[in-house]
Amino acid sequence: MSVRRLADVQPESFEFTPENKAWAATEIAKYPPGRQASAVLALLWRAQAQSGYWLPKPAIEKVAEMLDMPNIRVLEVATFYSMFNLAPVGRYYVQLCGTTPCMLGGAEDIKAVLWKRIGEPGHVTADGIFSWNEVECLGACCNAPMVQINDDYYEDLTPQNFADLLDDLAAGRPVRKGSQIGRASSEPVGGLTALTALYGVDGRSGPQSLSTQAPANDRRASLVQPDSAGAEARAAAEEAQINEALAKLPADATQEQKANAVGARPPALEAPRAVADNLQRIKGVGPVNEKHLHELGVFHFDQIAAWTRSEIRWVGAYLAFPGRIDREQWVPQAANLAHVGTGPKDSAVQGHQDVKKGH
Ligand code: FES
Repeated sequence: MSVRRLADVQPESFEFTPENKAWAATEIAKYPPGRQASAVLALLWRAQAQSGYWLPKPAIEKVAEMLDMPNIRVLEVATFYSMFNLAPVGRYYVQLCGTTPCMLGGAEDIKAVLWKRIGEPGHVTADGIFSWNEVECLGACCNAPMVQINDDYYEDLTPQNFADLLDDLAAGRPVRKGSQIGRASSEPVGGLTALTALYGVDGRSGPQSLSTQAPANDRRASLVQPDSAGAEARAAAEEAQINEALAKLPADATQEQKANAVGARPPALEAPRAVADNLQRIKGVGPVNEKHLHELGVFHFDQIAAWTRSEIRWVGAYLAFPGRIDREQWVPQAANLAHVGTGPKDSAVQGHQDVKKGH
């Protein structure tokens, strides 16, 4: 960690709000007489939150006064921990993990996006929206590469989904926290590799079949999600965010206007390449949705498999069922079907049978 210095420009004073002052009193009261200094991290953290996610010098001095500590002792704490920002940051402050697992997972590519989009570390964009810094391990190595933005983690990043994420934040659109490829917690990228029989991922489960996995270097694209409960929870959370955004639109907004408010339209083809895939082989896509997808220029499994979070939201809102694409796992299904290969229209009958059988 390089030397950390206080910002050149400082406010003249700092006072906790009455609410934070009362909160600080309860924090300090948790410790025995003479041990008030134990509350230093908590008070600095609250002071930072009140000051727009950075710690002005007067705030550090105020905490020292409240805890009866020399200023230098509190300053030592504030300059030691990278969780305390000593200069103003953007509304969205990005902390990029650059430690070994994230570096091996592609953190350098994510850093290149930050340099291009925001500029050098510590620089706040002219609109005040973004700033970034590189930090040490944030403890989410299993889902590397990752960043922390304000208080939330964003994991399994690629240059594309990270650029989309920044676009969505800048535009005020809802974003997905945690894994950007939809895996729950730290489950393997390619789906379960143990206890597969227990969870029904045993090579006989259609789209969830491990036998349909892509080669290792393509496994992110072919992510399967055996964790249907997790998929349901994630879909519900995002659906709520989208519905909140849609509720702010005029009542006569078109489907396209609604979709544009929450995401980005996916790339379209003017016509199928040779023959269209039978999209009805995706569980959840019936004749009506297949027709709509064709109208949107979507004819092939690999198109759906490549949808970003932003594009999933756009299509979900356009088709008036936000959350359903995640809930029914269209993207991992499409990824598997794209890798396995499938017949075109002549497999429609088989596709219907698959859906009816619940595969
Ligand atoms: S190495 Fe990046 S979170 Fe641990």
